Amino acid sequence: MAYEFKHTAATPTPESERLEKLKNPGFGTAFTDHMVSIVWEKETGWQQPEVLPYAPIAIDPASAVLHYGQEIFEGLKAYRHPDGRVVTFRAERNAARLNHSANRLALPEIPIELFIAACHELVKTDIDWVPTGEDQSLYLRPFMIADEVFLGVRSAHRARFFVIASPAGAYFPNGVKPISLWLSGHYNRAGKGGTGSAKCGGNYAASLNPTDEAFAQGCQQVLFTDANDSDRIDELGGMNLFLVRHDGTLITPELNGNILEGVTRASIIELARARGLRVEERPVTVSEWQQGAADGSIQEAFACGTAAVVVPIAELRGANDFVITLPQPSGEVTMSLREELTGIQFGTRPDPHGWTTPVEAA
Ligand code: COI
Repeated sequence: MAYEFKHTAATPTPESERLEKLKNPGFGTAFTDHMVSIVWEKETGWQQPEVLPYAPIAIDPASAVLHYGQEIFEGLKAYRHPDGRVVTFRAERNAARLNHSANRLALPEIPIELFIAACHELVKTDIDWVPTGEDQSLYLRPFMIADEVFLGVRSAHRARFFVIASPAGAYFPNGVKPISLWLSGHYNRAGKGGTGSAKCGGNYAASLNPTDEAFAQGCQQVLFTDANDSDRIDELGGMNLFLVRHDGTLITPELNGNILEGVTRASIIELARARGLRVEERPVTVSEWQQGAADGSIQEAFACGTAAVVVPIAELRGANDFVITLPQPSGEVTMSLREELTGIQFGTRPDPHGWTTPVEAA
């Protein structure tokens, strides 16, 4: 279905300023000239989608999101290919996951085609903001908030869906250098029946205190374990985890309802299986990791997510001088899977799975 977007043009950022921002974008600090906004009301459903100038949004202080945290979000990227085309990567998966999150947070589902159309319309409108530098892309942040003005505790009858866009380089300041993880001792990310598999702001809010602990320990990410079993690995503050055995087998925590179904996670699994590598999705423990690193059966580990793609792990540290050091922190399997995935995303390799979708020129 073709959606008709109402456009209100922004005053464009002067070219010199835009080019300056695109030079070394880092992550999440610069934003393009426009945003998409779509209102939903219980009675009438989704209203006409709009492309508006990027600007602060007016929100009533009694809006549900400000009190009861009804908020969900997504993250995906648009990539510029060597032939000049701009593509998005597996956007339908992000749309499906947003709807999964919407169900859990009692927000409305959005039609998958409308989600994709909104992302593509914004990229087309702000196409000059898609960077051309190595490993640079335009990070899209779709999100939904409940903005009904009502303080009663029930699911809101009004919501808004937005898409904003931000030119992005490496997520970690050191690029793809191996990172250190901090094993969270006191805090868990999710529990059975909770919101662990939803991409909602609340999960990230709850990860910030433990993430600060990780930073204070000189680590870049926190590793959470299961709420009922402190040995069983859950996921990182904002990424999924893989261990790599000496024979190339990948091991990653199964989707047990507590962890996020990462699009990068799914893509890595498919790429690895297509290579003939074994992938085990099952409970994974810290003890297994410790023993495997000590006896050499686990050689590599990596974190993955949309923002950072694939990042090698050097070590896992925790309280009382606990440490696991990986024999091969930037090992062959980790780096070659990263290279294959980014090759497909950036169009330097064929896309046999049909994962990329061109954003038609405006
Ligand atoms: C991702 O990379 O997929 C994340 O969730 C991290 C993002 C929240 C910055």
